[in-house]
Amino acid sequence: MKTAPAPLGVYIHWPFCKSKCPYCDFNSHVREGIDHKRWRAALLTELEYAALEAPSANGGRRRVETIFFGGGTPSLMEPETVAALIQRTHELWDTAADVEITLEANPTSVEADRFAALAQAGVNRVSLGIQALDPGALKFLGREHSVDEALAALRTAQRQFRRTSFDLIYARPGQTPEAWDAELRTALKLAGEHLSLYQLTIERGTRFFTDHARGAFAVPGEETAARLYELTQARLSAAGMPAYEISNHARPGAECRHNLIYWRYQDYVGVGPGAHGRFSEGGAKIARRRRSGPEAWLEAVERDRHGTAESTVVSGRDRVEEALMMGLRLTAGIDRAEFIEAAGADVVEELGEAKFAPLIKAGFIEVNKTRVRATAAGRQRLNAVIERLIT
Ligand SMILES: C[S@@+](CC[C@H](N)C(=O)[O-])C[C@H]1O[C@@H](n2cnc3c(N)ncnc32)[C@H](O)[C@@H]1O
Ligand code: SF4
Repeated sequence: MKTAPAPLGVYIHWPFCKSKCPYCDFNSHVREGIDHKRWRAALLTELEYAALEAPSANGGRRRVETIFFGGGTPSLMEPETVAALIQRTHELWDTAADVEITLEANPTSVEADRFAALAQAGVNRVSLGIQALDPGALKFLGREHSVDEALAALRTAQRQFRRTSFDLIYARPGQTPEAWDAELRTALKLAGEHLSLYQLTIERGTRFFTDHARGAFAVPGEETAARLYELTQARLSAAGMPAYEISNHARPGAECRHNLIYWRYQDYVGVGPGAHGRFSEGGAKIARRRRSGPEAWLEAVERDRHGTAESTVVSGRDRVEEALMMGLRLTAGIDRAEFIEAAGADVVEELGEAKFAPLIKAGFIEVNKTRVRATAAGRQRLNAVIERLIT
């Protein structure tokens, strides 16, 4: 019997933004005068190289199920570049008839003006970084757009793309549960099928990290943060958009298929500065990471056809632990049969039942013959739960 080609995701990183937001530790940089032609050529070159790194499986070609343009701000890419990368992906691999092609966009008018051309290029899903529906909060977050501009961009996106999502950041300084609830209700009126709701994290190396350390502002304490999280879960579930992952909510069937590939520990290739990839090969996973610095990456690709900084073999227990960390983020948890396929072993057998028993008893983990999942309480303190399982 012929087996279906193994699914594959393609991630493409655009590392530039118009300005650097004070909370953001993504691989994003501000540069004057980007040479778009040179960048287009380099991204295409590394995409071709990635096809050599992710070759045929069992004699059959891999089938690309998803393409994701992340950043940085990929809505600042020339639509011609996006079109060329999509086209080349179709040439290099088999692609699913319903391939999901997502692009992250900032909601300014400049970017909204490009949406038609990006849709024309083949993008069929857009994720907009609205971040807040409150003018004071947008200012605090250092965003370049107003609430009205963001809403106008959302309307344009909803006209141009079949699928849309937007991001909000909550647990902001001084944010009360009442204020967040009002913002959530507005968000739900505006939302289509998907919402990403992130708790503000103070990341090392960002301007917020320094400001926060010197006491310029305080973030909500653990108790308030927990209330905000619970409120978010309840409000979104009641509206038919339950969380399918810690920070991601969707109507059933409208989950981001690309991100599901990460959380299910399936295979994906990464192209562009700082992009990561995971590829199954010879009973292990090959983990690849490209150089982060945009200029260093560009020069490496022009010299070597790829900008790989590191390529390591993840096998045995490490592979199981990596897959576990991803899988427990999902509300549905881990499908044990799929896990064996992706990670090479059964998670309960590999870690030992004794590790799970106290967490099951405490109500943080549920295990049955087919699934292992973190309960709502477990997902709320997932780092601690995972630490107990893997140490
Ligand atoms: C790669 S970024 C966004 C893409 C796009 N450049 C934008 O800003 O709209 C993905 C998302 O991560 C979230 N994010 C980034 N840093 C964060 C932080 N420190 N705390 C919480 N959410 C964060 C934001 O909601 C952001 O939209
Ligand atoms: S949040 Fe988005 S726009 Fe802001 S610096 Fe990060 S990637 Fe760039």
